[in-house]
Amino acid sequence: MKSSFRIVVSLGLIGTAASHYVINRFIVNNTVSNDFEYVRPYISNVTGDEIWYGILNPNRDPTNLDFRCGPNGTITGNLTKTATVRAGDTVGFRLGEPHFKYLNYPYDVPRIYHPGPGSVWLSKSPSDNLNTYSGDGDWFKILEIIGRTEQSMPVLSDSTYAPLYQWGLYVARDWNFTIPATTPPGKYLLRFEQVYPVKSYHPNDNYLGPEYFVNCAQIDIVNDEQIGSPGPVAKIPGVYERWQPEFQSEPWDKNSTSTFKYPGPPVWQG
Ligand SMILES: *[C@@H]1O[C@H](CO)[C@@H](O)[C@H](O)[C@H]1NC(C)=O
Ligand SMILES: *[C@@H]1O[C@H](CO)[C@@H](O)[C@H](O)[C@H]1NC(C)=O
Ligand SMILES: *[C@@H]1O[C@H](CO)[C@@H](O)[C@H](O)[C@H]1NC(C)=O
Ligand SMILES: *[C@@H]1O[C@H](CO)[C@@H](O)[C@H](O)[C@H]1NC(C)=O
Ligand SMILES: *[C@@H]1O[C@H](CO)[C@@H](O)[C@H](O)[C@H]1NC(C)=O
Ligand SMILES: *[C@@H]1O[C@H](CO)[C@@H](O)[C@H](O)[C@H]1NC(C)=O
Repeated sequence: MKSSFRIVVSLGLIGTAASHYVINRFIVNNTVSNDFEYVRPYISNVTGDEIWYGILNPNRDPTNLDFRCGPNGTITGNLTKTATVRAGDTVGFRLGEPHFKYLNYPYDVPRIYHPGPGSVWLSKSPSDNLNTYSGDGDWFKILEIIGRTEQSMPVLSDSTYAPLYQWGLYVARDWNFTIPATTPPGKYLLRFEQVYPVKSYHPNDNYLGPEYFVNCAQIDIVNDEQIGSPGPVAKIPGVYERWQPEFQSEPWDKNSTSTFKYPGPPVWQG
C-alpha cells in the first residue's frame, strides 16, 4: 500500500496544473448534483490515459491561476449552472469523475486519499452575471477542516495509515457545511480547497511541494434577514506563496494536526 502512494507522488512529476481528484458535485437541499452541474469544469477533449497525465496531475503552484478554481475555472462559468442557496443552509461538495485510479486503487468511490487540511471560501461577483466573473475579486474563508469531526471516515484500526486519519478529510467522499447565516445576498463563487502538505526537500525543485486540489461552484445566495460584513479578505492566487511553510509539514507524522495552523485569513464566522 505504501508503495502505491509513492507511485502517485512520482506520477505527479509529469505535469503541472490539475489534480488526482475533482471536487465537482455540489450538494444542495440534501441532493448530490451531477459532475460539474454547478461546478465550473475544465476544458479538455482528452480521454483515457491522457486524463491521468494531464487533467489529473496535481497543481503544486498556488501562484498559478489554476489555483483559483481548478484548470480553466476562471473562464468556464457559462458551461455550468448556478444553484440558489439560502444563507444559513447546509450545502456540501462530493468528489466526482474523473479520478485518478492508481495501481490497486482500494476505494469504492472517488475519495480524498491524500491526507491534509481543507477550507471553503466565498467570492462575490461584482455584477449579476456570475458566468463571466473570473474570481479576481476578494475572497473570504468560511471554514477550515483540520482535525477529525463527526463527518470523518472511521479509522481503520489495522491500518499502517492510522496516523493519516488525524486529518478530518482523509478518505472522505464528501463534506457538508453551512453558508454563514449573515452572508450578504448575491452571486458567489464557492471554492473548496484541499491541500496535501508535502515537504520540499530541495527548495528550488519545481516539482516537489504541496499538492492543491480546488474547484468552485456557482451559487446565488438569498438572504432577506440579517446581513453581515465578511472579512478579512484575500486574493486567490496571492494568499499563499510557493512552498508555503505551513504546508511543508509531514502529514504522516503522528501529531501533525495538533500544531498545524492554516495560513491565510481567519474564518469569517458570519
Ligand atoms: C453530506 O450530505 C449528503 C446529502 O445530504 C449526504 O448524502 C452525505 O452523506 C453527507 N456527507 C457526510 C460526510 O456527512
Ligand atoms: C483536441 O482538439 C484540438 C483542437 O480542437 C485538436 O487539435 C486535438 O487533436 C484534439 N486532441 C485530442 C486528443 O482529440
Ligand atoms: C485549460 O487549462 C489547462 C491547464 O491549465 C490549460 O493547459 C489549457 O490551455 C486551458 N484551456 C483553455 C481554453 O484555456
Ligand atoms: C463562454 O465564456 C467564454 C469566456 O468567458 C466565451 O469565450 C464564450 O464565447 C462563452 N460561450 C457562450 C456559449 O456564451
Ligand atoms: C433549494 O431549495 C430552495 C427552497 O427551499 C429553492 O429555492 C432552491 O432553488 C433549491 N436549490 C436548488 C439548487 O435546487
Ligand atoms: C503533540 O503536540 C503537542 C503540541 O505541540 C505536544 O504537547 C505533544 O507532546 C505532542 N505529542 C506527541 C506524541 O508528540
